[in-house]
Amino acid sequence: MNLSGNTFRNCMLAASLVLAAGAPGLASAQALELSIRADEPGLPISRYLYGQFAEHLGRGIYEGIWVGEDSPIPNTKGFRNDVVAALKALQIPVVRWPGGCFADEYHWRDGIGPRDQRPVRINTHWGWVDETNAFGTHEFFELVDMLGSEAYIAGNIGSGTPREMAEWLEYMTADGNSELAELRRANGRQDPWKVSFFGVGNETWGCGGNMTPAYYADLYKRYATFLKAPEGNRPKKIASGGSNEQTIWTETLAAAVDWGMDGISHHYYTLPTGEWPVKGKAVGFPEQEWISTLFNTMRIDEYLRLNEAVLDQHDPESKVGLYLDEWGTWYDPEPGREPGFLYQQNTLRDAVVAALNFNIFHRHAKRLHMANIAQTVNVLQAVILTEGEKMLLTPTYHAFEMYKPFQDSTFVPNAFAGMPEYTLDGVSVPRVSATSARTRDGALVLGLVNLDPHESATLAVSIDGFAARSVAGRVLTANAIDAHNTFDAPETVKPAALEVELDDGRLLLELPSKSVTVVTVRE
Ligand code: AHR
Repeated sequence: MNLSGNTFRNCMLAASLVLAAGAPGLASAQALELSIRADEPGLPISRYLYGQFAEHLGRGIYEGIWVGEDSPIPNTKGFRNDVVAALKALQIPVVRWPGGCFADEYHWRDGIGPRDQRPVRINTHWGWVDETNAFGTHEFFELVDMLGSEAYIAGNIGSGTPREMAEWLEYMTADGNSELAELRRANGRQDPWKVSFFGVGNETWGCGGNMTPAYYADLYKRYATFLKAPEGNRPKKIASGGSNEQTIWTETLAAAVDWGMDGISHHYYTLPTGEWPVKGKAVGFPEQEWISTLFNTMRIDEYLRLNEAVLDQHDPESKVGLYLDEWGTWYDPEPGREPGFLYQQNTLRDAVVAALNFNIFHRHAKRLHMANIAQTVNVLQAVILTEGEKMLLTPTYHAFEMYKPFQDSTFVPNAFAGMPEYTLDGVSVPRVSATSARTRDGALVLGLVNLDPHESATLAVSIDGFAARSVAGRVLTANAIDAHNTFDAPETVKPAALEVELDDGRLLLELPSKSVTVVTVRE
């Protein structure tokens, strides 16, 4: 790469600014050149790409979100005040509930009416523990209202009937005098709720019923036929799809279902080792598992591309979306904890994983209509962890918070003039990942990830079609690849200001090693 004397001087200047702010030392004076075409806006980046998934699993709902009105933990109508306030600040666009695997054994009538009369069931998937049904349909919509989110209901196709599924939707949306509308009113909710999305089963290839794609495609049509709601409050219907590199579910559903299907779901979990029996640890992992985790998480790019290609063949008008309604990291259970509760610590690595995924999702905005991280509180790649009355925000929370400006923004193309790789033991990933967009209020926003755990990266950014006049940067980084927040030290990993120089319309900045940065530029 050729560097003019001026560029070199500016890069050194930018680096010294970062050094002055206490960032890691300058490792390379050679700037990576990034060009942004603000004059060539692309597709909208849906806010739904920043969705959440909250299942009845471990301490995700019970204790994590819902503690009940009599709890000593400060709450409003049984919802933890601290958790609700933190989630609200994330501007969560949509919450998927009640599962996951739990969805296909959930019977909605168990979760309505007076709480002391609700039946106790067994949560057979997750720890074989009592499910009190204290958190049911009314509580879910209360949560969604408090967060300013929309509802994505996952219906039970595995062990429920078409009638049960249809009646749940009627209970939630009926506006007339039907028995179910009156029952909802008797239970305290006068007006219908808005159900934005309705999933017809979950992982029907596994915990949702061990079906074949063809069998499920027929079943989907049968159940979806009876999913009716008043005009103006009809949910988008989402079919349960495949996972990882699979395309057979998308292929079969797209070929067999030519009405009443707005989306097909897909799931992908990132395992450091790529192997389920020994996935890798959440903290105290070797550098080999830093790079393998980042490498594995970026496989989603290819998996989305494969499924999009299938949809392009069957649905050239792009009516059917892909819903990545479960994604995130999945590590070995923490020693001493109930393995079925899927509780795991969350480190700087998880924040980098989250930001890499966001950067990839933006490039799939045409078909990727939603993504839901698994899961909101205390489960898998959680944004919040709790222990009794204590709560902490994870590095993943901060990545979501920093990327808020991308919700409902417009994608803007960008390209690097060459990209060096970070390599370890034969595994290579690009050193830097970038995304860019125009926000709803006209700013230009950049999301940048430095994947290299040792080397900072100097960046020179040129922008076409945008007269940059002011700039502000925020960075999330830490000293160690497994740096994390604890209940005793909850602010070890949190965003800080990053100086960015604006020089004749060009941006000059230094990305610390192992970091996530968001830069907002205004005209
Ligand atoms: O998120 C945990 C589980 O992972 C979900 O219940 C299931 O859908 C997936 O296998």
